[in-house]
Amino acid sequence: MTRSGKVRVGIVGAGYIAQVHSAGYRSVVGTYDDGPEGVDLAVVADGAENRAQELSRAWGWERVETDWRQVTRADDVDVVDVSVPNVLHAEIAIDALEHGKHVICEKPLAHDLESALAMAAVAERSGRLAQVCFYYRLWPAIAWARQLVDEGAVGRPQHFRGWLLQDYAADAALDLGWRARPADAGAGALGDLGSHIIDIARHLCGDISRLCANSRTIVDRPGDTKIDDLISIMVEFDSAAGGVLEASWALRGHKCDLGFDLVGDGGAIRFSWERSNEIEVLQGDPADPANGFRRVLIGGAQPDVSRFVAVSGQGVGYRDAFTIGLGHALRGIARGDAATEPSFADGAEVSRVVAAALDSAESGRWTAVS
Ligand SMILES: NC(=O)c1ccc[n+]([C@@H]2O[C@H](COP(=O)([O-])OP(=O)(O)OC[C@H]3O[C@@H](n4cnc5c(N)ncnc54)[C@H](O)[C@@H]3O)[C@@H](O)[C@H]2O)c1
Repeated sequence: MTRSGKVRVGIVGAGYIAQVHSAGYRSVVGTYDDGPEGVDLAVVADGAENRAQELSRAWGWERVETDWRQVTRADDVDVVDVSVPNVLHAEIAIDALEHGKHVICEKPLAHDLESALAMAAVAERSGRLAQVCFYYRLWPAIAWARQLVDEGAVGRPQHFRGWLLQDYAADAALDLGWRARPADAGAGALGDLGSHIIDIARHLCGDISRLCANSRTIVDRPGDTKIDDLISIMVEFDSAAGGVLEASWALRGHKCDLGFDLVGDGGAIRFSWERSNEIEVLQGDPADPANGFRRVLIGGAQPDVSRFVAVSGQGVGYRDAFTIGLGHALRGIARGDAATEPSFADGAEVSRVVAAALDSAESGRWTAVS
């Protein structure tokens, strides 16, 4: 933070998600009146200079670099945003934290568990804010679901069925780039999309203690890449609740099919991203023949929505999720508060579950998440 109350951001990576982040940074100050006075887009670094130039032109990043150390070690940067392929997250985030920067890192936290644990440990020691971008959990409907669970509005969770299914990788001819290289990505659909639904499951039902996973390659891609296109995981939570999680990037017809069905002993909550501005809640007397799910339109009663729209049901969208997520981080930094959600510790817990799922899929056995 400078004395003017501005937060100066440096971003590493100028690909797809960097554009979404750029839009988010641009809208945080206007959206939240309890955050920084300004957000400077100080510097963008990308190994491909033309990409960095394009992002700079489109969103006004002031300086362009090709070496990420010019961001993590820059004097004019307070926050480093890590938006590069998964294998690079740990080295960049740790260097930034060790140079006194706050860090906002894309998901999954790292390509493997060892790196994720190292990142969480350095973050803990650093006293800096370290956030991982599992922003679906901050989505107003899902954040409200968490409030309902905390209030006991649906009783004790007994079962959680969650999924994130897409079809962007269903075309065998499509070059998935780093995402299809296990050394760069860590896992296929499990790391890319499964990590999101694991985070939501943990957020709503607590830590997962053990699991049994089945993983399949369902797209016959050129070369010999065998990567998980589809993963199904039976889980048990520490709380003794159970559940089933599914993730795929290659199931035809599923675009951004993220959803869950949480059943407690006093009610239930259902959510689907395809109707992301509503949520269904079941409460009341099961013996009442008129008892059933209520459809609640998202509005001022749900977290953050009144910052965007005045009327319930007007709707917020995918980019707003990033304004909310980045807003949480930048407001924390402006307050001098390093606690954030989702934290690197949350990211490392998701990586534990991903690692256990990979082990289980390999062995065919129930596996402890340790
Ligand atoms: N939160 C979400 O929902 C969400 C959505 C999409 C992507 N992501 C995550 O964001 C990250 C980036 O994904 P993407 O879709 O933007 O990928 P992308 O391939 O579009 O962009 C990655 C960029 O990183 C650059 N890069 C690669 N190596 C570099 C290096 N050594 N130094 C500097 N730049 C380098 C590439 O040139 C490229 O411009 C991944 O971790 C991904 O999982 C998250």
